[in-house]
Amino acid sequence: MIDRYQKHSEALLKQLPKGVFITAKGNDVTNTMTIAWGHIGVLWGKPVFIAYVRYSRYTYDVLLQAEDFTINVPVEQDVREALKIAGTESGRDIDKFKKANLTLKPARQVNTPILADCKLQYECKILYRQSMEPALIPDDIKARYYPNHDTHIVFYGEIVESYMLEE
Ligand SMILES: Cc1cc2nc3c(=O)[nH]c(=O)nc-3n(C[C@H](O)[C@H](O)[C@H](O)COP(=O)(O)O)c2cc1C
Repeated sequence: MIDRYQKHSEALLKQLPKGVFITAKGNDVTNTMTIAWGHIGVLWGKPVFIAYVRYSRYTYDVLLQAEDFTINVPVEQDVREALKIAGTESGRDIDKFKKANLTLKPARQVNTPILADCKLQYECKILYRQSMEPALIPDDIKARYYPNHDTHIVFYGEIVESYMLEE
């Protein structure tokens, strides 16, 4: 269990502030987007990845239909352009995989595919979701991040697999 969140955590935490991909498969659509906020750790005795997705994201709509998501982490790989496209354009308007030249590959244990372009993979089953309570957000943070009330939904995913692709 510890392996699933600790083994590659250094590579994840190094890349996270620069951006990683969260990919989700809904009823008949798959989408990916860039995230830079998140955590890895333990909840209810399970290894978890926790992601923050704003209501306005198409990825939020897809995650509502999904049972799981994958976190795709470039490790010493130059995918800056793909992170930029996935982080500035919406899957509502374009096929990001095509535009960013990203390749989907079946995951080991979950329905959502992984991105073959990234070495490090986390496969996560959605365990819990939580909306933010606006009254509890400090005023300066609210003014800076949520002037339009577009708060984040926190998605807790149980990590059922984590691995480097070449392994
Ligand atoms: C480096 C970077 C990090 C980002 N981190 C997040 C994040 O943690 N949560 C979030 O909701 N949006 C984040 N975004 C913004 C989304 O990736 C962006 O709005 C994206 O176009 C949404 O795509 P979608 O509509 O297909 O879901 C980030 C963007 C960039 C460039």
